[in-house]
Amino acid sequence: QYIAEISELNQLEIHLKEILRVENVIIVPGNSDEEDWVKQEMGKACVRYLKKIIMPNATIAVTGGTTMASIASVMSPLDKVDNYLFVPARGGIGEKVENQANTIAAEMSLKAQGNYRLLYVPDPLSETSYQNLINEPSIIEVLQLIKNADIVLHGIGDALTMAERRKTPENIKQKLLEEKAVSEAFGYYFTQKGEVVHKVRTVGLQLEDLDSKEYVITVAGGSSKAKAIESYFKQAKSHMLITDEAAAIQILRDS
Ligand code: F6P
Repeated sequence: QYIAEISELNQLEIHLKEILRVENVIIVPGNSDEEDWVKQEMGKACVRYLKKIIMPNATIAVTGGTTMASIASVMSPLDKVDNYLFVPARGGIGEKVENQANTIAAEMSLKAQGNYRLLYVPDPLSETSYQNLINEPSIIEVLQLIKNADIVLHGIGDALTMAERRKTPENIKQKLLEEKAVSEAFGYYFTQKGEVVHKVRTVGLQLEDLDSKEYVITVAGGSSKAKAIESYFKQAKSHMLITDEAAAIQILRDS
């Protein structure tokens, strides 16, 4: 039911750009909620785009999640330039190893024939550990690289799904429910209007750091993420959304 003609997808892309107010949109056929190959198609589209925009000596910061892991699974050498670095965008966000930003950054770099630096910081962090960690020389060095990243690749999740997946304490889940959180990205939880209602304390990229980035590439699909995508793009700093047909159609219906 979800496989549109290319020309229909092009039309959808035009509508989505207007609705979400984003410069660039790529839509791949299918519904990634139902079939894994759709995530890989989003991954391939992302790798193709990366090859177009990559500049010499670029640093690429990546978040965690299954969508980012799919991009890593289809990564290939980024031609033309010979020196680039992959780093995790933030400290590990309590996810399974295969879905953690560190693992994904390392895999992407091996397949792309780049370099990588990792960040070994738990998440969430207590205030005291946070203060101590940000003064550790080895952490400071990697954090500097992350903050100065040229390209950011990130996922978006449904707020409550992510809170559940991260085994978030009951009182915070309650807060997310009461404040009607809809989406999550970079450890921030957003309402339907794009307001931040909760933030996981960890080191690495903060939302305000995105302002200075040359390219922020958002990859998220599946009809179940339509509301989350709409919510994130209410405030988002993103130059490109790579999504799938099912999410795109649902966003159009909601608008
Ligand atoms: O936990 C990292 C993260 O990028 C979140 O910020 C995001 O909500 C989630 O992963 C997306 O995960 P998935 O691609 O598995 O839906």
